[in-house]
Amino acid sequence: MAPANSKKQMHFTLFTFPPFVHHYPDGWRHPQEMLGGIYNPLEPDVWARVARTLEAMKVDAFFVGDGGAIYNSNENSPATSLRYGSQTIEFFAPTFVTAVTMMAPELASVATVNTEELNPWTFARMASTMDHLSKGRVGFNIVTGLNPGGLADNLGIELREHDARYERAEEFMQVCYQLWQSWDPDALVRDAALPMFADPDKVHEINFQGEYFQCRGPLQLPRSPQEIPVIFQAGQSPRGRQFAARHAEGVFTISPDLPAMQSYYRDVKDRVANEGRRESDLAILTGIFPIVGVSEAAAQEKYEKLIELATAEAGLAWCSGYASWNFAQVPFDTKLSDLDAKEFAGIQSIFELTMASSADAASKTPHLYAYPHVEEPTVRDLCIANAQSIVPKVVGTVDQVADQMEQIIDAEGADGFMFSTVHMPGSIDELAPVLAELQRRGRFRKAFEGPTLRDRLGTRPLPWVDRA
Ligand SMILES: Cc1cc2nc3c(=O)[nH]c(=O)nc-3n(C[C@H](O)[C@H](O)[C@H](O)COP(=O)(O)O)c2cc1C
Repeated sequence: MAPANSKKQMHFTLFTFPPFVHHYPDGWRHPQEMLGGIYNPLEPDVWARVARTLEAMKVDAFFVGDGGAIYNSNENSPATSLRYGSQTIEFFAPTFVTAVTMMAPELASVATVNTEELNPWTFARMASTMDHLSKGRVGFNIVTGLNPGGLADNLGIELREHDARYERAEEFMQVCYQLWQSWDPDALVRDAALPMFADPDKVHEINFQGEYFQCRGPLQLPRSPQEIPVIFQAGQSPRGRQFAARHAEGVFTISPDLPAMQSYYRDVKDRVANEGRRESDLAILTGIFPIVGVSEAAAQEKYEKLIELATAEAGLAWCSGYASWNFAQVPFDTKLSDLDAKEFAGIQSIFELTMASSADAASKTPHLYAYPHVEEPTVRDLCIANAQSIVPKVVGTVDQVADQMEQIIDAEGADGFMFSTVHMPGSIDELAPVLAELQRRGRFRKAFEGPTLRDRLGTRPLPWVDRA
Protein backbone atom coordinates (compact mmCIF):
# COMPACT_ATOMS: atom_id res chain seq x y z
CA MET A 1 0.00 0.00 0.00
CA ALA A 2 1.48 3.38 -0.99
CA PRO A 3 1.92 5.77 1.94
CA ALA A 4 -0.44 8.74 2.27
CA ASN A 5 2.00 11.19 0.66
CA SER A 6 2.08 8.62 -2.22
CA LYS A 7 5.61 9.32 -3.38
CA LYS A 8 6.61 6.29 -5.38
CA GLN A 9 8.71 3.90 -3.28
CA MET A 10 11.98 2.54 -4.62
CA HIS A 11 13.34 -0.99 -4.63
CA PHE A 12 17.04 -1.71 -4.27
CA THR A 13 19.15 -4.75 -4.96
CA LEU A 14 22.91 -5.13 -5.05
CA PHE A 15 24.42 -6.86 -8.05
CA THR A 16 27.41 -9.15 -7.59
CA PHE A 17 29.17 -11.85 -9.55
CA PRO A 18 31.08 -13.34 -6.62
CA PRO A 19 33.89 -13.81 -5.82
CA PHE A 20 34.95 -11.07 -8.29
CA VAL A 21 31.96 -8.98 -8.54
CA HIS A 22 32.22 -6.19 -11.00
CA HIS A 23 30.28 -4.92 -13.91
CA TYR A 24 33.45 -3.75 -15.56
CA PRO A 25 36.15 -6.21 -16.47
CA ASP A 26 39.10 -4.36 -14.97
CA GLY A 27 37.41 -4.04 -11.58
CA TRP A 28 39.67 -6.59 -9.91
CA ARG A 29 42.60 -4.18 -10.48
CA HIS A 30 40.98 -1.29 -8.59
CA PRO A 31 43.35 -0.25 -5.78
CA GLN A 32 40.57 -0.35 -3.17
CA GLU A 33 39.21 -3.72 -4.27
CA MET A 34 38.49 -5.87 -1.20
CA LEU A 35 39.86 -2.92 0.76
CA GLY A 36 43.27 -3.12 -0.86
CA GLY A 37 43.73 -6.86 -0.40
CA ILE A 38 42.72 -7.26 3.25
CA TYR A 39 39.96 -9.70 2.37
CA ASN A 40 40.22 -12.84 0.31
CA PRO A 41 36.99 -12.99 -1.75
CA LEU A 42 37.21 -16.80 -1.89
CA GLU A 43 36.69 -16.94 1.88
CA PRO A 44 33.34 -16.30 3.57
CA ASP A 45 34.31 -13.46 5.95
CA VAL A 46 33.89 -10.60 3.52
CA TRP A 47 30.55 -11.96 2.30
CA ALA A 48 29.21 -12.18 5.84
CA ARG A 49 30.18 -8.53 6.28
CA VAL A 50 28.50 -7.57 2.99
CA ALA A 51 25.34 -9.53 3.83
CA ARG A 52 24.95 -7.94 7.25
CA THR A 53 25.58 -4.45 5.86
CA LEU A 54 22.93 -4.92 3.17
CA GLU A 55 20.49 -6.28 5.74
CA ALA A 56 21.00 -3.19 7.90
CA MET A 57 20.48 -0.98 4.82
CA LYS A 58 17.09 -2.73 4.26
CA VAL A 59 17.66 -3.45 0.57
CA ASP A 60 15.17 -5.76 -1.14
CA ALA A 61 17.80 -8.35 -2.00
CA PHE A 62 21.38 -9.30 -2.57
CA PHE A 63 21.47 -10.36 -6.24
CA VAL A 64 23.96 -12.91 -7.52
CA GLY A 65 24.75 -13.30 -11.23
CA ASP A 66 26.29 -16.42 -12.74
CA GLY A 67 27.83 -16.73 -16.20
CA GLY A 68 28.02 -20.51 -16.09
CA ALA A 69 31.51 -21.00 -17.55
CA ILE A 70 34.71 -19.09 -18.30
CA TYR A 71 34.16 -16.96 -21.42
CA ASN A 72 35.82 -18.73 -24.33
CA SER A 73 34.12 -17.18 -27.36
CA ASN A 74 36.97 -14.78 -28.05
CA GLU A 75 39.18 -16.63 -30.55
CA ASN A 76 37.62 -19.85 -29.26
CA SER A 77 39.80 -19.77 -26.16
CA PRO A 78 39.52 -18.82 -22.47
CA ALA A 79 42.93 -17.09 -22.72
CA THR A 80 41.73 -13.46 -22.99
CA SER A 81 39.24 -13.91 -20.18
CA LEU A 82 41.83 -15.51 -17.94
CA ARG A 83 44.47 -12.90 -18.71
CA TYR A 84 42.16 -9.92 -18.16
CA GLY A 85 40.05 -11.45 -15.42
CA SER A 86 36.67 -10.52 -16.86
CA GLN A 87 34.12 -12.36 -14.69
CA THR A 88 36.43 -15.33 -14.94
CA ILE A 89 35.91 -17.16 -11.69
CA GLU A 90 32.48 -17.54 -10.17
CA PHE A 91 30.83 -19.30 -7.30
CA PHE A 92 27.81 -21.42 -8.19
CA ALA A 93 25.10 -18.86 -7.44
CA PRO A 94 22.46 -20.99 -5.61
CA THR A 95 25.07 -22.42 -3.24
CA PHE A 96 26.40 -18.96 -2.56
CA VAL A 97 22.88 -17.61 -1.92
CA THR A 98 22.15 -20.42 0.53
CA ALA A 99 25.17 -19.26 2.53
CA VAL A 100 24.10 -15.60 2.32
CA THR A 101 20.65 -16.28 3.75
CA MET A 102 22.32 -17.98 6.73
CA MET A 103 24.79 -15.12 7.22
CA ALA A 104 22.06 -12.47 7.57
CA PRO A 105 18.77 -13.83 8.97
CA GLU A 106 16.50 -11.15 7.48
CA LEU A 107 18.21 -10.42 4.16
CA ALA A 108 16.69 -11.80 0.95
CA SER A 109 18.90 -13.04 -1.84
CA VAL A 110 18.48 -13.91 -5.52
CA ALA A 111 20.48 -16.58 -7.37
CA THR A 112 20.90 -16.64 -11.13
CA VAL A 113 19.99 -20.02 -12.58
CA ASN A 114 20.36 -21.00 -16.21
CA THR A 115 17.56 -23.19 -17.56
CA GLU A 116 20.04 -24.88 -19.89
CA GLU A 117 22.13 -26.05 -16.93
CA LEU A 118 19.57 -27.58 -14.57
CA ASN A 119 16.67 -29.90 -15.14
CA PRO A 120 13.35 -28.45 -13.83
CA TRP A 121 12.98 -31.27 -11.31
CA THR A 122 16.40 -30.58 -9.79
CA PHE A 123 15.81 -26.84 -9.85
CA ALA A 124 12.32 -27.07 -8.30
CA ARG A 125 13.66 -29.22 -5.44
CA MET A 126 16.62 -26.93 -4.88
CA ALA A 127 14.49 -23.78 -4.93
CA SER A 128 11.89 -25.25 -2.58
CA THR A 129 14.61 -26.38 -0.15
CA MET A 130 16.12 -22.90 -0.17
CA ASP A 131 12.73 -21.24 0.27
CA HIS A 132 11.94 -23.42 3.30
CA LEU A 133 15.32 -23.00 4.95
CA SER A 134 15.39 -19.22 4.41
CA LYS A 135 11.73 -18.82 5.46
CA GLY A 136 10.84 -17.32 2.11
CA ARG A 137 13.80 -15.05 1.46
CA VAL A 138 14.99 -16.39 -1.88
CA GLY A 139 14.44 -15.55 -5.51
CA PHE A 140 15.83 -16.96 -8.75
CA ASN A 141 17.00 -14.99 -11.76
CA ILE A 142 15.95 -17.34 -14.55
CA VAL A 143 18.21 -16.86 -17.56
CA THR A 144 18.89 -18.73 -20.74
CA GLY A 145 22.59 -17.93 -20.67
CA LEU A 146 24.93 -15.06 -21.46
CA ASN A 147 27.62 -17.59 -22.19
CA PRO A 148 25.64 -20.45 -23.69
CA GLY A 149 28.53 -21.73 -25.82
CA GLY A 150 30.83 -22.03 -22.80
CA LEU A 151 28.17 -23.84 -20.81
CA ALA A 152 27.24 -26.21 -23.65
CA ASP A 153 30.91 -27.19 -24.02
CA ASN A 154 30.97 -28.27 -20.38
CA LEU A 155 27.62 -30.01 -20.35
CA GLY A 156 28.48 -31.87 -23.52
CA ILE A 157 25.31 -30.66 -25.24
CA GLU A 158 24.58 -28.92 -28.53
CA LEU A 159 24.36 -25.14 -28.31
CA ARG A 160 20.67 -24.31 -28.59
CA GLU A 161 19.71 -21.23 -30.58
CA HIS A 162 18.67 -18.01 -28.74
CA ASP A 163 14.87 -18.06 -29.11
CA ALA A 164 14.68 -21.86 -28.82
CA ARG A 165 16.30 -21.56 -25.37
CA TYR A 166 13.49 -19.23 -24.33
CA GLU A 167 10.88 -21.69 -25.66
CA ARG A 168 12.41 -24.41 -23.55
CA ALA A 169 12.61 -22.09 -20.53
CA GLU A 170 8.87 -21.47 -20.92
CA GLU A 171 8.16 -25.19 -20.52
CA PHE A 172 10.74 -25.39 -17.71
CA MET A 173 8.68 -22.87 -15.73
CA GLN A 174 5.44 -24.78 -16.30
CA VAL A 175 7.00 -27.92 -14.78
CA CYS A 176 8.28 -25.94 -11.80
CA TYR A 177 4.95 -24.23 -11.09
CA GLN A 178 3.16 -27.57 -11.11
CA LEU A 179 5.73 -29.17 -8.82
CA TRP A 180 5.71 -26.27 -6.35
CA GLN A 181 1.91 -26.53 -6.15
CA SER A 182 1.73 -30.33 -6.15
CA TRP A 183 1.07 -30.39 -2.39
CA ASP A 184 -2.16 -28.77 -1.23
CA PRO A 185 -1.48 -26.24 1.51
CA ASP A 186 -2.84 -28.55 4.23
CA ALA A 187 -1.39 -31.82 2.90
CA LEU A 188 1.26 -32.27 5.60
CA VAL A 189 -0.78 -33.60 8.53
CA ARG A 190 1.72 -35.17 10.95
CA ASP A 191 -1.01 -36.61 13.17
CA ALA A 192 0.59 -39.39 15.20
CA ALA A 193 -2.74 -40.65 16.61
CA LEU A 194 -4.37 -41.36 13.24
CA PRO A 195 -1.63 -42.08 12.11
CA MET A 196 -1.26 -39.80 9.11
CA PHE A 197 1.96 -38.15 8.04
CA ALA A 198 0.75 -36.61 4.79
CA ASP A 199 -2.71 -36.93 3.25
CA PRO A 200 -2.24 -38.86 -0.02
CA ASP A 201 -5.42 -37.26 -1.44
CA LYS A 202 -3.82 -33.86 -1.12
CA VAL A 203 -0.49 -34.60 -2.80
CA HIS A 204 -0.72 -34.80 -6.59
CA GLU A 205 1.37 -36.34 -9.31
CA ILE A 206 1.76 -33.83 -12.11
CA ASN A 207 2.39 -36.26 -14.99
CA PHE A 208 3.87 -33.52 -17.15
CA GLN A 209 4.44 -34.54 -20.77
CA GLY A 210 5.98 -31.72 -22.76
CA GLU A 211 8.15 -31.21 -25.79
CA TYR A 212 11.30 -30.94 -23.68
CA PHE A 213 10.47 -32.38 -20.27
CA GLN A 214 8.62 -35.27 -18.71
CA CYS A 215 8.01 -35.27 -15.00
CA ARG A 216 5.74 -37.43 -12.86
CA GLY A 217 5.95 -35.64 -9.53
CA PRO A 218 4.87 -34.85 -6.88
CA LEU A 219 7.61 -32.66 -5.40
CA GLN A 220 9.48 -34.18 -2.49
CA LEU A 221 8.65 -31.22 -0.26
CA PRO A 222 5.41 -29.58 0.91
CA ARG A 223 4.65 -25.99 -0.15
CA SER A 224 7.35 -23.56 0.84
CA PRO A 225 6.74 -20.19 2.53
CA GLN A 226 6.49 -18.30 -0.76
CA GLU A 227 4.92 -21.30 -2.56
CA ILE A 228 6.42 -19.99 -5.80
CA PRO A 229 9.92 -18.69 -5.02
CA VAL A 230 10.22 -15.19 -6.51
CA ILE A 231 11.26 -15.30 -10.17
CA PHE A 232 13.57 -12.66 -11.63
CA GLN A 233 14.68 -12.32 -15.24
CA ALA A 234 17.50 -10.62 -17.14
CA GLY A 235 17.63 -10.51 -20.93
CA GLN A 236 16.31 -7.69 -23.10
CA SER A 237 15.68 -9.12 -26.55
CA PRO A 238 11.98 -9.11 -27.54
CA ARG A 239 11.79 -12.80 -26.56
CA GLY A 240 13.51 -12.08 -23.25
CA ARG A 241 11.09 -9.25 -22.46
CA GLN A 242 8.16 -11.51 -23.18
CA PHE A 243 9.52 -14.11 -20.78
CA ALA A 244 9.97 -11.45 -18.10
CA ALA A 245 6.48 -10.05 -18.61
CA ARG A 246 4.98 -13.48 -18.15
CA HIS A 247 7.03 -15.02 -15.37
CA ALA A 248 9.09 -12.46 -13.51
CA GLU A 249 8.33 -10.48 -10.37
CA GLY A 250 11.65 -8.65 -10.67
CA VAL A 251 13.67 -7.84 -13.73
CA PHE A 252 17.27 -6.73 -14.00
CA THR A 253 17.71 -4.43 -16.95
CA ILE A 254 20.51 -2.19 -18.17
CA SER A 255 19.86 0.89 -20.30
CA PRO A 256 22.46 3.50 -21.13
CA ASP A 257 20.30 6.56 -20.49
CA LEU A 258 16.89 7.79 -19.36
CA PRO A 259 15.09 7.66 -22.75
CA ALA A 260 16.24 4.05 -23.20
CA MET A 261 15.11 3.22 -19.64
CA GLN A 262 11.69 4.75 -20.32
CA SER A 263 11.22 2.94 -23.59
CA TYR A 264 12.14 -0.41 -21.99
CA TYR A 265 9.89 0.31 -18.99
CA ARG A 266 6.79 1.11 -21.07
CA ASP A 267 7.31 -1.82 -23.41
CA VAL A 268 7.70 -4.35 -20.59
CA LYS A 269 4.84 -2.95 -18.45
CA ASP A 270 2.54 -3.14 -21.50
CA ARG A 271 3.59 -6.73 -22.03
CA VAL A 272 2.86 -7.47 -18.34
CA ALA A 273 -0.67 -6.10 -18.74
CA ASN A 274 -1.15 -8.17 -21.90
CA GLU A 275 -0.36 -11.27 -19.85
CA GLY A 276 -3.31 -10.41 -17.57
CA ARG A 277 -1.05 -9.31 -14.72
CA ARG A 278 -1.02 -6.02 -12.82
CA GLU A 279 1.80 -3.69 -13.84
CA SER A 280 2.89 -3.68 -10.19
CA ASP A 281 3.37 -7.48 -10.27
CA LEU A 282 6.77 -6.91 -11.90
CA ALA A 283 9.39 -4.61 -10.35
CA ILE A 284 11.76 -3.21 -12.98
CA LEU A 285 15.23 -2.67 -11.54
CA THR A 286 17.58 -0.72 -13.76
CA GLY A 287 21.33 -1.07 -13.30
CA ILE A 288 23.33 1.93 -12.08
CA PHE A 289 26.77 2.52 -10.66
CA PRO A 290 26.40 5.13 -7.91
CA ILE A 291 29.69 7.02 -7.54
CA VAL A 292 29.31 9.16 -4.46
CA GLY A 293 31.72 11.83 -3.23
CA VAL A 294 31.83 14.36 -0.39
CA SER A 295 31.85 16.95 -3.17
CA GLU A 296 30.98 16.84 -6.87
CA ALA A 297 34.70 17.12 -7.67
CA ALA A 298 35.54 14.18 -5.38
CA ALA A 299 32.89 12.02 -7.07
CA GLN A 300 34.18 13.07 -10.48
CA GLU A 301 37.70 12.02 -9.48
CA LYS A 302 36.46 8.55 -8.47
CA TYR A 303 34.67 8.28 -11.79
CA GLU A 304 37.82 9.24 -13.73
CA LYS A 305 39.80 6.54 -11.88
CA LEU A 306 37.28 3.91 -12.91
CA ILE A 307 37.41 5.04 -16.54
CA GLU A 308 41.23 5.03 -16.54
CA LEU A 309 41.30 1.36 -15.55
CA ALA A 310 39.41 0.35 -18.70
CA THR A 311 41.27 -1.51 -21.44
CA ALA A 312 39.79 -2.32 -24.86
CA GLU A 313 41.23 -5.88 -24.65
CA ALA A 314 39.33 -6.63 -21.46
CA GLY A 315 36.23 -5.16 -23.14
CA LEU A 316 36.79 -7.46 -26.11
CA ALA A 317 36.89 -10.59 -23.93
CA TRP A 318 33.80 -9.37 -22.11
CA CYS A 319 31.76 -8.55 -25.24
CA SER A 320 32.68 -11.82 -26.95
CA GLY A 321 31.68 -13.63 -23.76
CA TYR A 322 28.34 -11.84 -23.37
CA ALA A 323 27.36 -12.24 -27.00
CA SER A 324 28.94 -15.70 -27.33
CA TRP A 325 30.41 -14.36 -30.57
CA ASN A 326 34.06 -13.81 -31.48
CA PHE A 327 34.39 -10.04 -31.98
CA ALA A 328 38.11 -10.54 -32.69
CA GLN A 329 37.13 -11.99 -36.10
CA VAL A 330 36.26 -8.51 -37.44
CA PRO A 331 38.44 -5.37 -37.51
CA PHE A 332 38.06 -2.98 -34.59
CA ASP A 333 36.70 -0.31 -36.98
CA THR A 334 33.75 -2.44 -38.11
CA LYS A 335 30.49 -0.52 -37.71
CA LEU A 336 28.01 -2.20 -35.41
CA SER A 337 25.35 -1.53 -38.04
CA ASP A 338 27.25 -3.95 -40.34
CA LEU A 339 26.85 -6.80 -37.82
CA ASP A 340 23.69 -8.80 -37.25
CA ALA A 341 23.01 -9.36 -33.55
CA LYS A 342 20.67 -12.21 -34.47
CA GLU A 343 23.83 -14.24 -35.09
CA PHE A 344 24.84 -13.96 -31.44
CA ALA A 345 24.03 -17.02 -29.40
CA GLY A 346 24.32 -14.98 -26.17
CA ILE A 347 22.93 -11.54 -25.37
CA GLN A 348 21.46 -10.27 -28.64
CA SER A 349 20.54 -6.97 -27.03
CA ILE A 350 24.20 -6.14 -26.36
CA PHE A 351 24.28 -3.10 -28.69
CA GLU A 352 21.26 -1.39 -27.14
CA LEU A 353 22.48 -2.29 -23.67
CA THR A 354 25.75 -0.53 -24.27
CA MET A 355 25.49 2.39 -26.63
CA ALA A 356 23.80 5.62 -25.59
CA SER A 357 20.59 5.95 -27.56
CA SER A 358 20.21 9.68 -27.97
CA ALA A 359 22.53 12.64 -28.39
CA ASP A 360 20.76 14.89 -25.88
CA ALA A 361 20.23 12.26 -23.16
CA ALA A 362 23.06 13.61 -21.00
CA SER A 363 21.49 17.04 -20.68
CA LYS A 364 18.22 15.60 -19.35
CA THR A 365 19.91 13.63 -16.58
CA PRO A 366 22.97 15.63 -15.55
CA HIS A 367 24.44 13.10 -13.12
CA LEU A 368 23.90 9.99 -15.23
CA TYR A 369 27.01 9.14 -17.25
CA ALA A 370 26.70 6.72 -20.13
CA TYR A 371 29.31 6.04 -22.79
CA PRO A 372 29.12 9.22 -24.91
CA HIS A 373 26.75 9.18 -27.83
CA VAL A 374 28.44 8.08 -31.06
CA GLU A 375 26.69 8.50 -34.41
CA GLU A 376 28.13 5.32 -36.02
CA PRO A 377 29.50 3.15 -33.19
CA THR A 378 32.18 0.59 -34.08
CA VAL A 379 33.38 -2.62 -32.45
CA ARG A 380 36.07 -0.53 -30.75
CA ASP A 381 33.39 1.74 -29.21
CA LEU A 382 31.51 -1.33 -28.05
CA CYS A 383 34.61 -2.81 -26.41
CA ILE A 384 35.62 0.42 -24.70
CA ALA A 385 32.07 1.10 -23.55
CA ASN A 386 31.97 -2.39 -22.05
CA ALA A 387 35.36 -2.00 -20.44
CA GLN A 388 34.08 1.18 -18.81
CA SER A 389 30.97 -0.84 -17.91
CA ILE A 390 27.68 -1.15 -19.69
CA VAL A 391 26.03 0.09 -16.52
CA PRO A 392 25.53 3.88 -16.46
CA LYS A 393 27.18 5.74 -13.61
CA VAL A 394 25.39 8.20 -11.34
CA VAL A 395 28.10 10.58 -10.22
CA GLY A 396 27.78 13.24 -7.52
CA THR A 397 27.19 14.08 -3.89
CA VAL A 398 24.66 12.17 -1.77
CA ASP A 399 21.99 14.74 -2.66
CA GLN A 400 22.78 14.75 -6.36
CA VAL A 401 22.74 10.97 -6.59
CA ALA A 402 19.46 10.79 -4.64
CA ASP A 403 17.96 13.53 -6.89
CA GLN A 404 18.94 11.61 -9.99
CA MET A 405 17.39 8.40 -8.71
CA GLU A 406 14.15 10.20 -7.92
CA GLN A 407 14.11 11.72 -11.40
CA ILE A 408 14.48 8.29 -13.02
CA ILE A 409 11.72 6.79 -10.87
CA ASP A 410 9.31 9.70 -11.41
CA ALA A 411 9.94 9.68 -15.16
CA GLU A 412 8.95 5.99 -15.26
CA GLY A 413 12.45 4.85 -16.10
CA ALA A 414 12.35 2.14 -13.41
CA ASP A 415 10.73 0.93 -10.18
CA GLY A 416 14.08 0.67 -8.47
CA PHE A 417 17.77 0.07 -8.96
CA MET A 418 20.25 -2.73 -9.25
CA PHE A 419 23.48 -1.33 -7.84
CA SER A 420 26.86 -2.12 -9.29
CA THR A 421 29.93 -1.26 -7.27
CA VAL A 422 33.19 0.41 -8.23
CA HIS A 423 35.05 -1.68 -5.69
CA MET A 424 34.00 -4.11 -2.98
CA PRO A 425 33.01 -3.93 -0.23
CA GLY A 426 33.87 -0.23 0.26
CA SER A 427 31.40 1.07 -2.34
CA ILE A 428 28.52 -0.42 -0.37
CA ASP A 429 29.45 1.66 2.65
CA GLU A 430 29.47 4.74 0.40
CA LEU A 431 25.92 3.93 -0.64
CA ALA A 432 24.51 3.86 2.88
CA PRO A 433 24.10 7.68 3.15
CA VAL A 434 22.26 7.74 -0.20
CA LEU A 435 19.73 5.20 1.04
CA ALA A 436 19.42 7.09 4.33
CA GLU A 437 18.69 10.27 2.36
CA LEU A 438 16.04 8.47 0.31
CA GLN A 439 14.47 7.22 3.54
CA ARG A 440 14.41 10.81 4.80
CA ARG A 441 12.67 11.85 1.58
CA GLY A 442 10.03 9.16 2.11
CA ARG A 443 11.19 7.12 -0.89
CA PHE A 444 12.55 4.02 0.77
CA ARG A 445 11.45 1.67 3.55
CA LYS A 446 12.75 2.05 7.09
CA ALA A 447 11.61 -1.45 8.06
CA PHE A 448 10.95 -4.58 6.02
CA GLU A 449 7.29 -4.93 4.97
CA GLY A 450 7.34 -8.61 5.92
CA PRO A 451 9.63 -11.62 6.23
CA THR A 452 9.58 -12.78 2.59
CA LEU A 453 11.16 -11.35 -0.53
CA ARG A 454 7.69 -11.09 -2.11
CA ASP A 455 6.45 -9.01 0.85
CA ARG A 456 9.17 -6.51 0.05
CA LEU A 457 8.64 -6.41 -3.69
CA GLY A 458 4.83 -6.24 -3.35
CA THR A 459 4.41 -8.45 -6.43
CA ARG A 460 2.51 -11.62 -7.38
CA PRO A 461 3.70 -14.61 -9.40
CA LEU A 462 2.07 -15.74 -12.64
CA PRO A 463 0.12 -18.68 -11.12
CA TRP A 464 -1.63 -16.26 -8.77
CA VAL A 465 -3.11 -14.10 -11.54
CA ASP A 466 -6.62 -15.33 -10.81
CA ARG A 467 -6.35 -14.95 -7.05
CA ALA A 468 -8.05 -11.93 -5.50
C1 LIG B 1 21.16 -7.06 -17.60
C2 LIG B 1 21.36 -8.50 -17.94
C3 LIG B 1 21.94 -9.36 -16.98
C4 LIG B 1 22.12 -10.71 -17.27
N1 LIG B 1 22.68 -11.54 -16.33
C5 LIG B 1 22.92 -12.83 -16.66
C6 LIG B 1 23.61 -13.72 -15.77
O1 LIG B 1 23.97 -13.38 -14.64
N2 LIG B 1 23.86 -14.98 -16.19
C7 LIG B 1 23.49 -15.44 -17.42
O2 LIG B 1 23.75 -16.59 -17.75
N3 LIG B 1 22.84 -14.62 -18.27
C8 LIG B 1 22.56 -13.34 -17.92
N4 LIG B 1 21.93 -12.52 -18.84
C9 LIG B 1 21.56 -13.01 -20.20
C10 LIG B 1 20.40 -13.90 -20.20
O3 LIG B 1 20.94 -15.16 -19.96
C11 LIG B 1 19.58 -14.02 -21.42
O4 LIG B 1 18.58 -14.96 -21.06
C12 LIG B 1 20.17 -14.51 -22.74
O5 LIG B 1 21.51 -14.44 -22.89
C13 LIG B 1 19.57 -13.73 -23.86
O6 LIG B 1 19.67 -12.37 -23.62
P1 LIG B 1 18.80 -11.37 -24.49
O7 LIG B 1 17.36 -11.77 -24.29
O8 LIG B 1 19.09 -10.00 -23.94
O9 LIG B 1 19.26 -11.54 -25.89
C14 LIG B 1 21.75 -11.20 -18.55
C15 LIG B 1 21.18 -10.34 -19.49
C16 LIG B 1 20.99 -9.01 -19.20
C17 LIG B 1 20.37 -8.12 -20.25
